[in-house]
Amino acid sequence: MSSFKKANMILDKDFIISTIDKRIYGSFVEHLGRCVYEGIYEPDHPLADEQGFRKDVIELVQQLNVPLVRYPGGNFVSGYNWEDGVGPKENRPRRLELAWRTIETNEVGTNEFADWARKANTEVNMAVNLGTRGIDAARNLVEYCNHPSGSYWSDLRISHGYKQPHKFKTWCLGNEMDGPWQIGHKTADEYGRIAVEAAKVMKWVDPTIELVACGSSSRAMKTFADWEATVLDHTYDHVEYISLHTYYANRDNDTANFVARSLDMDQFIRSVTAICDYVKAKKRSKKTINLSFDEWNVWYHSHDADRKLEPWQIAPPQLEDVYTFEDAILVGCMLITLLKHSDRVKIACMAQLVNVIAPIMTDKGGEAWKQTIFYPYMHASVYGRGVALNPIVHSQKYDSKDFTDVPYLESTAVYNEESNELTIFAVNRDLNEPLLLECDIRSFQGYRVVEHIVLENDDVKARNTKEHQGRVAPHSRGDAEVKDGRVVSMLPKFSWNVIRLAKQQ
Ligand code: AHR
Repeated sequence: MSSFKKANMILDKDFIISTIDKRIYGSFVEHLGRCVYEGIYEPDHPLADEQGFRKDVIELVQQLNVPLVRYPGGNFVSGYNWEDGVGPKENRPRRLELAWRTIETNEVGTNEFADWARKANTEVNMAVNLGTRGIDAARNLVEYCNHPSGSYWSDLRISHGYKQPHKFKTWCLGNEMDGPWQIGHKTADEYGRIAVEAAKVMKWVDPTIELVACGSSSRAMKTFADWEATVLDHTYDHVEYISLHTYYANRDNDTANFVARSLDMDQFIRSVTAICDYVKAKKRSKKTINLSFDEWNVWYHSHDADRKLEPWQIAPPQLEDVYTFEDAILVGCMLITLLKHSDRVKIACMAQLVNVIAPIMTDKGGEAWKQTIFYPYMHASVYGRGVALNPIVHSQKYDSKDFTDVPYLESTAVYNEESNELTIFAVNRDLNEPLLLECDIRSFQGYRVVEHIVLENDDVKARNTKEHQGRVAPHSRGDAEVKDGRVVSMLPKFSWNVIRLAKQQ
């Protein structure tokens, strides 16, 4: 008898969670640190295009196949005058940016970002300022962006060289308004009132838009749950989504506990879903509010460096986490968690996209490269399109400092009916041993493994840096095969796996 740990799984075409909304593979670009300036935009770079956008960065964003990017913040949006960022660049003001204590030059604004998004083949998820501004600025921005012509703000856009409306579909009603750090922080009632009034008039300007109300900035907030219930009480009939944010850290260097943190994300999603449905019941509503997990990632490596930064610089290196291999494993578990809840999570944004807690890093005037977390994000985004299947999983479990019953196997699967492809995403959380996976694919007759991608590394702290860009990178030498209607694989210790199957012709 083998001494290996084992996990069993059953997949069936008919066990469906939901069609996956591709926007769950979204990302986030904030005017913060070097995300915009020196990230997506660096006019002096040898690879900059005619508008100053780095083509090497666009190429990496396209590799990630990012369907949606939240913009322009984040904490930044709560002090932002969107009017500063449109029109002739020479007239744009330099402002003290209070959220991150920098200087904002406004060289990039709404129109440039819309152009960048088109080039990167992605959609913009726009945020309005409900911190220092309110209903008026919000409805004017919708008019500026989305109204075809014949009104003050739409004609102003046309005079700025943008004849066609941008048609931004999804809009965030502010950012983290529950947080005392937020410019214009509000109580749940104060926020609920301004959010519903802004929502009303924004939709009067453009009834086709979808709106995201701010949920709590983390599950750890004291006001969590009451905040969501109160905000939804005010806004229920006027919004489509409520937001969730979460960042995880491994401060006490307990890896087994750290990679179990996706269980917290799972619980967070379950709780917010329950609150949405509680308000639905209370209102006897037919409408269902869905979830926009519009900030999620690992964030802590850069905290010390950020505390030492001099204020009022232009695009200083802020929140530049250099990610480890173990971070990629947790990110993989978080992506699987989002997929498992794809019936309610319709939008999710890895925060952020370039340089700032990001999968892509850039060097000023130099190269762009992939952080460790780039890989699970890319694999999920590229191969995770179709329907999310509901696997029956039996896995041995462990207890860690903050969690009990942590399954060694974290896994889910996506079926793409159009291409006849089935993809299993699987993490082996065991730090020391491989895990024998046996997955019954009873309704997928004639399917064979076409590729088994593995991300593994002997050093959980291994990182990709400017000097060592390929230290953590996937290979396709996984051993998965189909035997007697089962996918069988020895998942390497502490690894992220993508097992791609296709129907044999
Ligand atoms: O993504 C970094 C910051 O984290 C965002 O600006 C804010 O919304 C959150 O606290």
